[in-house]
Amino acid sequence: MLKHVNYPLKDLHTFGTDAYAKEYVEVSSREALPALLSTYQGKHLVLGGGSNMLFLGDFDGMVIRIAIKGKKVIGTKPGKILLEVAAGEDWDDVVAYCVDQNWGGLENLSLIPGQTGSSPIQNIGAYGSELKDHFHSLTAFDKEKKTFKIFDKKSCNFGYRDSFFKQAGKDRYVIASVTLALDTKPIAKTGYGSLSAELTSAGIDNPGIGDVRKAVCNIRRSKLPDPEKLGNAGSFFKNPVVSKKTFSVLKKEFPEIVAFDDPKGKKLAAGWLIDRAGWKGYRHGDAGVHAQQALVLVNHGKANGLEIIQLANKIQKSVFEKYGIRLEPEVNII
Ligand code: FAD
Ligand code: EPU
Repeated sequence: MLKHVNYPLKDLHTFGTDAYAKEYVEVSSREALPALLSTYQGKHLVLGGGSNMLFLGDFDGMVIRIAIKGKKVIGTKPGKILLEVAAGEDWDDVVAYCVDQNWGGLENLSLIPGQTGSSPIQNIGAYGSELKDHFHSLTAFDKEKKTFKIFDKKSCNFGYRDSFFKQAGKDRYVIASVTLALDTKPIAKTGYGSLSAELTSAGIDNPGIGDVRKAVCNIRRSKLPDPEKLGNAGSFFKNPVVSKKTFSVLKKEFPEIVAFDDPKGKKLAAGWLIDRAGWKGYRHGDAGVHAQQALVLVNHGKANGLEIIQLANKIQKSVFEKYGIRLEPEVNII
């Protein structure tokens, strides 16, 4: 395993800010994880596609980039196929592959950047689906016990943009592979408002999973900035969940507020809160708020991590002052 020193990370994360790792190593096999982590005691960071990270400065430790590849069918159950995918496989390549095989379940999660191994960390979600809906299990290396451990769905404790790996299991495990349970007789899931509108406007009344993938890709391309062209990490904040009582107070003051039903009350559209607080399209230096989606902070070129976080802090303060709501970052601040 080749170890680099003072390694540039700018091209390895989607915000595209300048940052260097004191040490950098790529892990391309599952076996390399115990070889590396059974002896190494120092500060380190596991890096996938870098699409949900903001580096505030250089990383004073070892960045371990996951590059473990491969996928295979490991079993079948009635109506289901179990596909084991190595952590370093690009998520959207896996979605495209499954849609090509007519294995259903992942199509609503098309075009989400990043690796398959990171998908359980925040239980990725979009357009009416979450990873957990078609998740079977995962295998992770436990850095404390120095062994591999299998996690079933229940032990991952998935929630909205949340899992065991962001809570009690934070920083203890390195995910080596994820097993997905896919439908062999897929049924398109089209309930999400903007998805059904996109299908209707394309004149498709009986969509298959390929149509759903295409529609999701179209919506995403029209709203979300392409990190190759404009640095960003998707939604910077989570959509806040409030009680029904808090919602009814807000609704009286802001009758147009956008919210969705949630088991805990109402999930507010943070993009709406930020937009209506006047931030959409704002720019200070090269740190900005996306002109099409106020929940996405962008790097117009030369912004650094501190400038982006200063902007995020100002937005949090302004949203709190206007609505009394505390926005919580979705992005991992490093
Ligand atoms: P990274 O950013 O590299 O890492 C994220 C976290 O996971 C870090 O804490 C890292 O240490 C940890 N990690 C990574 N790999 C492993 C591993 N193998 N084992 C243990 N820990 C690991 N997210 C959504 O949920 N829905 C969306 O619709 C969505 N849209 C996006 C659109 C854009 C344009 C962008 C840029 C991002 C979007 N995201 C979305 C966020 C992002 O794509 C997801 O969070 C994705 O899962 C991150 O994957 P990654 O490989 O890039 O992870
Ligand atoms: N809105 C505005 N102004 C804006 C942005 C949004 O008014 O600038 C309002 C609109 O009314 C819109 C509503 O907010 O209808 C919701 O917006 P959108 O459909 O774009 O979704 P979102 O809630 O902003 C969430 C996820 C996205 C995911 C989409 C689609 C979170 C934090 N974000 O965004 O995930 O792709 O739904 O399902 O839950 C990510 O996590 O990085 C991400 C991009």
